[in-house]
Amino acid sequence: MRVFVILPAAGLGTRMTAGHPSLAAPKQFLELAGVPILIHTLRAFAEVPQVAAMYVAVRASEIDRLTAQVRDYGFAGKVHVVEGGDNRQESVANALNAIECDPGDIILVHDAVRPLIDAATIERTIRAVEKHDAAIVGLPAVDTIKQVERTADGAIITSTIPREYIVQAQTPQGFRCHLLRRAFAEAAADEFVGTDEASLVERAGAQVAVVLGSPANFKITQPGDLELAEFYLQRQPAHH
Ligand code: C5P
Repeated sequence: MRVFVILPAAGLGTRMTAGHPSLAAPKQFLELAGVPILIHTLRAFAEVPQVAAMYVAVRASEIDRLTAQVRDYGFAGKVHVVEGGDNRQESVANALNAIECDPGDIILVHDAVRPLIDAATIERTIRAVEKHDAAIVGLPAVDTIKQVERTADGAIITSTIPREYIVQAQTPQGFRCHLLRRAFAEAAADEFVGTDEASLVERAGAQVAVVLGSPANFKITQPGDLELAEFYLQRQPAHH
């Protein structure tokens, strides 16, 4: 059993750069403690011995820049750069098509912009996939969750979802290769587009287990998040 990692990194990061024209680079290329965010992410997965290869999906215009970084940071041979698509699902599909995996191999998909993932959580996810065939990292909700209806006047609550039934989906999201391929094929046939891989696997009829995540594994999305990431990083310097 081998583990392959897909890192979708082809987003434009428009929420990050809105109103900040000086932040010219897409967010996955912004630096955290002097190192590009994506490199922190690659380092975390490179620490896990079962990982055989990593596939990063980026926009066509970023392929050269990333290929140079992969070389400069010593990942040549272990990291493959593929072209991303118009949405996250397409980016992951392109990477999935580039991987030659056996049915029982494991594929982990992880947001490039969650650089504070740690090796222990990655290893727990792999073990859960070995047991259940599908597992994602999730964070129990601490806030009370409301379902709302959007109106011209703003949001109106339609119901309260008991928070013990809620986890917030993080990544990595891991699956046996045969299951992920079937889920992607069925989604493509039905023109279903989801915001994570688990939603495709759920609709393919498989059960997906949840592994406990951590608040540090958050998605760098908006201005201010970089400072928050630096704060978490200072508390776990050994890993990065
Ligand atoms: O936009 P969002 O924050 O949900 O993006 C999650 C991840 O998916 C990011 O790492 C982003 O770069 C990636 N993505 C992608 N291709 C797209 C859109 C987003 O690889 N077309």
